[in-house]
Amino acid sequence: MFNSDISIYLLPLKFFLLSCSMFLARARLCTLGSRPKFLKTICASKILGLSTSAATLPRYLVKHQSRLFREDIFQKMSLKFKNAKRIEGLDSNVWIEFTKLAADPSVVNLGQGLPDISPPVYVKEELSKIAAIDSLNQYTRGFGHPSLVKALSCLYEKFYQNQINPNKEILVTVGAYGSLFNAIQGLIDEGDEVIVIVPFYDCYEPMVRMAGAIPVFIPLRSVYTKEELQVIADLCIKYDTLCISDEVYEWLVYTGNKHFKIATFPGMWERTITIGSAGKTFSVTGWKLGWSIGPKHLIKHLQTVQQNTVYTCATPLQEALAQALWIDIKRMDDPECYFNSLPKELEVKRNRMVHLLESVGLKPIVPDGGYFIIADVSLLDTDLSDMKNSNEPYDYKFVKWMTKNKKLSAIPVSAFCNAETKLQFEKFVRFCFIKKDSTLDAAEEIIKAWSRQKF
Ligand SMILES: Cc1ncc(COP(=O)(O)O)c(C=O)c1O
Repeated sequence: MFNSDISIYLLPLKFFLLSCSMFLARARLCTLGSRPKFLKTICASKILGLSTSAATLPRYLVKHQSRLFREDIFQKMSLKFKNAKRIEGLDSNVWIEFTKLAADPSVVNLGQGLPDISPPVYVKEELSKIAAIDSLNQYTRGFGHPSLVKALSCLYEKFYQNQINPNKEILVTVGAYGSLFNAIQGLIDEGDEVIVIVPFYDCYEPMVRMAGAIPVFIPLRSVYTKEELQVIADLCIKYDTLCISDEVYEWLVYTGNKHFKIATFPGMWERTITIGSAGKTFSVTGWKLGWSIGPKHLIKHLQTVQQNTVYTCATPLQEALAQALWIDIKRMDDPECYFNSLPKELEVKRNRMVHLLESVGLKPIVPDGGYFIIADVSLLDTDLSDMKNSNEPYDYKFVKWMTKNKKLSAIPVSAFCNAETKLQFEKFVRFCFIKKDSTLDAAEEIIKAWSRQKF
């Protein structure tokens, strides 16, 4: 009763405020003259000179407009305010599409590379301690929190022949994603050719295209041997090429394999940006912290992008990551060190997945590193004829079908391929195995029941 009474007074007041603001807006727009491009990029509440709370007013009106009228407005606006050319054709995204499908709690999610195992206890404890320190809840140095860049330089000096300047040769970013973005925006020009190894992490291609460059694709070999990396290094040096090395899975290599950093090869440091990720290092993907390491003549361009985009990363997370790194830096040869214990734990899970997939007649490609396993699912000979979008690659249809009918999700491998190689990989799907045993048990139950039905 009380609420409805109040609304009687609020209604005219809202209209009044709205018309005042529209009047003000019109006056502001007129003084801005003919600069529609400029206006297009400014937040509406700023143009109108309204406070943020007042920006909710148009929503009130919209609520009372007929649906048809609203749709008409939106259609006109979407024709007027088209996407910037640099993002043309880049709107589909495998994570958005498949994460939504796997969000159903009844689905066992082996899709996105999202650990459901617990991160190390000391990592979580560091973060909770830090939240209580006032100063660490405020902005920090834009290019990387001082204690974090120091810890990173100390860690990576163990692998590089040279000392790493924490302030000039390291940049902390919003995940490895941020490092990729900064490196591509800061160092790649319109018209440049960028060699991308296929299958690739899906954002490489759109990021390269956003920079106006041209991706050129070449096929993959899994964990590169020293000799193979030397061939790549020789080619980089011969053709005076910049190297962006995404090494987010640097610690996750399995028995019989070793991770080599291409930046440590002779003649490569000066031309290489090496990218790492806290999410992958400590199984905390939600922290979205990453880093780029390289010579200062390259890092300074990534810094320029960062200072003009996100400016800085979350302080408490950076401090907690620094403290966690110190714990493991001091015990790198110890089996307890997470850099050693996580690959051991994952190797058991990898082997379990290999046996499971083989037991139902699939031929998984056994990974030497990382936490994904891919398998040719066409051998299951699944009837996908009722899948709606017949233009999609086989693996897209298969994963959608499997998520819906078997309550198991994965990621289609052709999402990591360019248009020309999609066909080559469309029979493969990717399962993530950085999962609790109970999650893998549930996946096993589904796969085994499915194979019993089939054979
Ligand atoms: C190869 C590769 N690079 C980069 C990233 C992004 O890492 P982050 O979550 O730190 O942004 C991922 C995440 O899955 C990845 O697999």
